[in-house]
Amino acid sequence: MRHFTGVQDIGDLQEALRQALEIKNDRFKYVGLGRNKTLLMVFFNSSLRTRLSTQKAAMNLGMNVIVLDVNQGAWKLETERGVVMDGDKSEHLLEAIPVMGCYCDVIGVRSFARFESRKDDYEEKILNQFIKYSGRPVFSMEAATGHPLQSFADWITIEEHKTVVRPKVVMSWAPHPKSLPQAVPNSFAQWMVAAGYDVVITHPHGYELDTKFTAGARIEYDQMKAFEGADFVYGKNWSAASPEHYGQILNTDRTWTIGERQMSVTNNAYFMHCLPVRRNMIVTDDVIEGPRSLVIPEAANREISATVVLKMILESL
Ligand code: CP
Repeated sequence: MRHFTGVQDIGDLQEALRQALEIKNDRFKYVGLGRNKTLLMVFFNSSLRTRLSTQKAAMNLGMNVIVLDVNQGAWKLETERGVVMDGDKSEHLLEAIPVMGCYCDVIGVRSFARFESRKDDYEEKILNQFIKYSGRPVFSMEAATGHPLQSFADWITIEEHKTVVRPKVVMSWAPHPKSLPQAVPNSFAQWMVAAGYDVVITHPHGYELDTKFTAGARIEYDQMKAFEGADFVYGKNWSAASPEHYGQILNTDRTWTIGERQMSVTNNAYFMHCLPVRRNMIVTDDVIEGPRSLVIPEAANREISATVVLKMILESL
């Protein structure tokens, strides 16, 4: 695997899972693989889990790590071609990217949706420029439309906890005060369908995700009906994805906040969320602190998914 931007890049899913469990059992098994190799992690946006877990994954593989926070201490970057650069941006991404490529062997990029242009976000303009101009293998640490390292970790977590071969996995929209991207729900839907689960997505009207990511999942607009018999509940907010309302908040209905009322109709479901989460907006204190909450094991598995992905990239060098 040279680049990792989605589930399509990981190859055989069962083999990826086997490698994840192998690494979880002995996370330093491949510590020689990254010797004298350097990972550059480029952050256009904030992070806690991705930053720490990916750095730890690189250390598991014996790599050196450089972290660049583009908005703190680096030159402000222009991303549009043809712009007369007479403003506050001192450097163009088209020079910055190949320069970054000079100093490393692998590049991880975090670049969220900007909500300026749906077309640019859905074409993954920033991530694809790194792939095109860096000359290095590139992997997504959450891009405009996907967060595959998170979904890989979520999938590992479900495999570790499921008690039936094909669990019912329900992803539910929940309210949030800010406009959030569709990256996590897009990826989660795609990975859960690829895993062969019974996948249901529930949200108010207007929050339909791009069918490119949700194909194979059922849509249920009645949240309580969707939760019936669920084995796993994944809470998440996202803003509207449609061209007409892209990035907008269309609904703030707090009855969608996931609490005991919804969880009571499930099959004693586990609760999942990628974090960070706003309590009592997305999920109540009782549910996230309850015995069926998997939010910490999911975060822990971010180290494992990142180690597998970096291992596969290193093996391709
Ligand atoms: N889930 C996740 O990607 O967390 P961070 O934004 O803190 O990296």
